[in-house]
Amino acid sequence: KQRILTGITTSGTPHIGNYVGAIRPAIEASRNQDNLSFYFLADFHALIKCQDPDLVAQSTREIAASWLALGLNPEEVVFYRQSDIPQIAELCWMLNCVCAKGLMNRAHAYKAAVDQNGEAGEDPDFGITMGLFSYPVLMAADILIFNANKVPVGKDQIQHVEMARDMAQRFNHLFASKKKPLFALPEYVVDDDVAVLQGLDGRKMSKSYGNTIPLFLGEKQLRKHINKIKTNLLEPGEPKDPDTSTVFQIWQAFANEQQQAEMRQAFADGIAWGEAKKQLFELINNELAEPRERYNELLANPSYIEDVLQAGAEKARRYSEPLLDRARHAVGIRKLG
Ligand code: TYM
Repeated sequence: KQRILTGITTSGTPHIGNYVGAIRPAIEASRNQDNLSFYFLADFHALIKCQDPDLVAQSTREIAASWLALGLNPEEVVFYRQSDIPQIAELCWMLNCVCAKGLMNRAHAYKAAVDQNGEAGEDPDFGITMGLFSYPVLMAADILIFNANKVPVGKDQIQHVEMARDMAQRFNHLFASKKKPLFALPEYVVDDDVAVLQGLDGRKMSKSYGNTIPLFLGEKQLRKHINKIKTNLLEPGEPKDPDTSTVFQIWQAFANEQQQAEMRQAFADGIAWGEAKKQLFELINNELAEPRERYNELLANPSYIEDVLQAGAEKARRYSEPLLDRARHAVGIRKLG
């Protein structure tokens, strides 16, 4: 079976970008009997950006509840929390020891932080911690410890998956024979139809920009958020360009082909922004109303979620333990005698 793996960082409320870019395609892939899917809550990754313990814990509940509410079947997949798998942190260290620092210098997240803050040397308050710097190494450990073949992600994560592949190659080259490599070489899978979803301000929708549309807002709030999407000043009746419009971009992510064509036409005919947003609200609300109810029920029952995660972690460790043993042996961390 192909092993599919993906994770979401638990540093905020899940948003429709996570849904469209990661959760929806991942759940679809999990229904294919040829796949074995590993989906997880990246709470170690959350610590990189977020030093608010309650937020990390709350986000973990919310993201777990989202996956389940949207139809992920924990019996069919391996669904777990990163920090419940100690082998990930251990492998992360081993990978740190074979990963060139120069490779990490090129990582987007690190480079963006340097652009914003400068090198920031010794002040952790500037946000450039060792955690941020070696974020792709931890992500590589997530992927390699389960020998994942395919990693479905949004476009922003492609570079990280490529780096994981580099690290797997390097590790295999140093510590395994050509015939029997230790780690599978992972590939990213990006759905070309799904662009990076834009947020309310037109930049990439992201927890760190505070421009998201949370996935399971109540109807009133959902409508309010959609009304806040930035538009240009064109009046009703004036033709509008769908390809530069956030409203249309989000529409595309939820609409079928016919609906897309119809909205394109409506833009050409000068649909009013208020009307386009009203239709967008209805489209999203239709897709999310049912899972939203399940989500709210699940959130009210955190001990059920925890049980699901514990069962998932046990299942996950059945894969990660033997592989880590082999990695330990390969690098020379062995019992003596
Ligand atoms: P994170 O939590 O930022 O995002 C989770 C997933 O959602 C996708 N995504 C988007 N897709 C479309 N439009 C957007 N605006 C948008 N925002 C986010 C992301 O591409 C991602 O697929 N480091 C990862 C989590 C992670 C991971 C892994 C993923 C940790 N270990 C191993 C895959 C494999 C992250 O912070 O994603």
